[in-house]
Amino acid sequence: MGFKVAVVGATGNVGREILTTLAERDFPADEVVALASSASAGREVSFGEDDILRVQALDTYDFRGVDIVLSSPGSKVSAVFAPRAAKAGAVVIDNTSCFRMEPDVPLVVPEVNPEAIAHYRKRGIIANPNCSTIQMVVALKPLHDLAHIKRVVVATYQSVSGAGRAAMDELFNQTRSVYVNDPIKPEQLTKQIAFNVIPHIDVFMDDGSTKEEWKMAVETRKILDPDITVSATCVRVPVFIGHAEAVNVEFERPLTADRARTALRNAPGIIVIDNRADEGYVTPAEAAGEDAVYVSRIRRDPTVPHGLSLWVVADNLRKGAALNAVQIAEILAAEHLGGKRMAGRPRLEAVRAK
Ligand SMILES: NC(=O)c1ccc[n+]([C@@H]2O[C@H](COP(=O)([O-])OP(=O)(O)OC[C@H]3O[C@@H](n4cnc5c(N)ncnc54)[C@H](OP(=O)(O)O)[C@@H]3O)[C@@H](O)[C@H]2O)c1
Repeated sequence: MGFKVAVVGATGNVGREILTTLAERDFPADEVVALASSASAGREVSFGEDDILRVQALDTYDFRGVDIVLSSPGSKVSAVFAPRAAKAGAVVIDNTSCFRMEPDVPLVVPEVNPEAIAHYRKRGIIANPNCSTIQMVVALKPLHDLAHIKRVVVATYQSVSGAGRAAMDELFNQTRSVYVNDPIKPEQLTKQIAFNVIPHIDVFMDDGSTKEEWKMAVETRKILDPDITVSATCVRVPVFIGHAEAVNVEFERPLTADRARTALRNAPGIIVIDNRADEGYVTPAEAAGEDAVYVSRIRRDPTVPHGLSLWVVADNLRKGAALNAVQIAEILAAEHLGGKRMAGRPRLEAVRAK
């Protein structure tokens, strides 16, 4: 007998990728239910190559009998529905920022802190981190184990898919408008995104940083180590899928670029492409549709006693959202919800394949 799984936000960027990922990884589900707003009820979404699911309205859905919910309907919606689903007996793996920093909700990246999943019982909710945080901590974990990270300075180059379907349409339409000389009116993003970059993701905080930048700092501390300081600048760029990050890391102990490269090569979920030549690094367009976190441009930072600089790229809809959530579901299913329904232990190395 397999699990009953509900995907909330199934018509969105992340929800559709969750459905694809569940099918691709052959998640042991007997039944998969697609949920979205009442406006989408009756619509069809693809599940794998052959199956079509009819979307049901979240508002009126009864979660009794559902084992696992994978959700991405936006924070405000998750705040209301997730406790309701958990009360009905489901475990909710939520992609929104709603519960991430609540002390009794685990915030999990399976390559970094899989043991935290065990703490899901109190609330019945597990939080998936922000897309930019996920790819960064996957790359930082093997380096932290070797030389203990003190401080991280990161600048992100984040694709428009991170802001949802409508933002992808906005990039497409604005690009066309530039070519045909039509006026440009930003709606989803705060300024023109076509042929431009915007240093503003999520709302401004009192200290002048944005909430996206704050999330990268506090989430890294919750997942990896409470003593690491993070200074982030998060920037939206005119790329459809795939986030890139220029990461500068300061360590307590010495760590050469060669040792770091070897550790990263051996770490789960990471592919190192680092040749100091044309094409010897990865860009977002190449990472789109892939599972791995790619690390390139590994080099010493001579401006601090023990420093390295890296270039980190991943598909924000896959490892930054859907894949990370499904990996959590695999561990939850195998180790906490009656593993006999799961064929063998989940293997993080599977991230490498594709
Ligand atoms: N995109 C990323 O890289 C990424 C990464 C990590 C986390 N997240 C988070 O995941 C969430 C969704 O992101 P997305 O990119 O998938 O957005 P999206 O493409 O705009 O999709 C939003 C989804 O939420 C559903 N929804 C909206 N209001 C709803 C309601 N009242 N009841 C039920 N469902 C509702 C939508 O259904 P309808 O089609 O019916 O409106 C749609 O399925 C956001 O909180 C985002 O921050 C995104």
